[in-house]
Amino acid sequence: MENKVYPITFKKDEDYKIGGVSIPYLGEKYGTPLYILDKETLIFQAQKYINSWKKYYKNKYKVLFAIKALPILEVIRIFKNYGLGALVSTGGELYIALSANVPSEDIYFHGNAKTLKEIEYAIDQKVGAIIIDNFDEYEKIKYVLSKKDTKVKVLVRIIPNIEVNTHKSIRTGQTDTKFGLPIEQALVLIEKINTEKNIIFKGIHSHIGSQIFDISAYVKLSEVLSEVYKELNSKNITVEEMSIGGGLGVAYTKEDNPPDIEDLAREVSNKFSETIGHNFKLICEPGRSLVGRAGITLYRIESRKELGIRKYVSVDGGMSDNIRPSLYGAKYSALIITKGDREEIFSIAGKHCESGDILIKDFSGLWPNPGDYLITFTTGAYNFSMYTWYNATPRPAVVLVENGKDRIIVKRENYEDLLGGQI
Ligand SMILES: Cc1ncc(COP(=O)(O)O)c(C=O)c1O
Repeated sequence: MENKVYPITFKKDEDYKIGGVSIPYLGEKYGTPLYILDKETLIFQAQKYINSWKKYYKNKYKVLFAIKALPILEVIRIFKNYGLGALVSTGGELYIALSANVPSEDIYFHGNAKTLKEIEYAIDQKVGAIIIDNFDEYEKIKYVLSKKDTKVKVLVRIIPNIEVNTHKSIRTGQTDTKFGLPIEQALVLIEKINTEKNIIFKGIHSHIGSQIFDISAYVKLSEVLSEVYKELNSKNITVEEMSIGGGLGVAYTKEDNPPDIEDLAREVSNKFSETIGHNFKLICEPGRSLVGRAGITLYRIESRKELGIRKYVSVDGGMSDNIRPSLYGAKYSALIITKGDREEIFSIAGKHCESGDILIKDFSGLWPNPGDYLITFTTGAYNFSMYTWYNATPRPAVVLVENGKDRIIVKRENYEDLLGGQI
């Protein structure tokens, strides 16, 4: 299981299977487009995080699932059973994490534009920590607390000034970013927090971006966090927790070669051993690397077109269920289940009214027939959660497979659902 990139198996002349269940059978039973999640892969990734930190980090640690990657109750419950908490970024995500019965002390709340209402909700629910992003948020927290007899634990998000080699839309740790505060300003904020009796400073938070393949960026981050830790210690401010954020990459194509979760845990732990020791609780917040590989999306081919300049194959979904290719050029791998035998190069297009709704440009594979199935891989992260109902497209169902069994964990929307809230 360790080296597998995609959670499906197939032998020549046999059905394609995921979690021991035939993929065409799932298409017949639940319709398409269909998100399919492999439970074994979800558990494998969660255990990998837990076991890697256990092996290398000699103090307490906590893995928080960044639920924005896949905010599905059953997925959050599975991770909770393996000891993971939840990282949420809005009141809505907080509501989902609480609905999955994640203990409130295991929920951390980040975000750069939290509203008063969201802050009050988080405080009332006694979340494990609010991750303060800016001075205005600090004032809002003070205001909410002034009306209550309660306390709140906080981390402060710093900008670590680390440029990572990933798409600019998913980089967050560089100097020019909307997330967090420059270290000098964060230090001023922390001193202010320390004058408040109801705001308990617990530590430092950081997150450098997403789809990161270079472990040395995390090593640099650990150095920066160590410097901040020392600086605060010299001011007699105790840092009990530090978060290295999420961001570890996954393979979307054969060319992608992401590092192992264990590499991250080893290199970060080694760096902290050299600098400040393992004297704090270490937090990490993976999203994509927990769920990305566990998911595939199943479509039906609807039509084909042979233009002189390009050939197109169109499927019954597209940017509504996977906006990432049109949003920032994300690349995916796919497989077509067909009896066709002509190799071609063609673009796989979605059904939406945007020319940019292309799931894969220049795909090389067998020229299919309408009704054939197309599978896209690594769709577990930021597909379901970024779903858009553009062109009034009902959200696909999500099915969980394990040991030859399948069950729906999110129902397919119907046309009536599209009218929800409309008067
Ligand atoms: C603060 C924070 N932590 C963790 C994550 C999860 O990132 P990833 O899914 O790349 O692991 C994000 C994603 O945007 C984030 O903003």
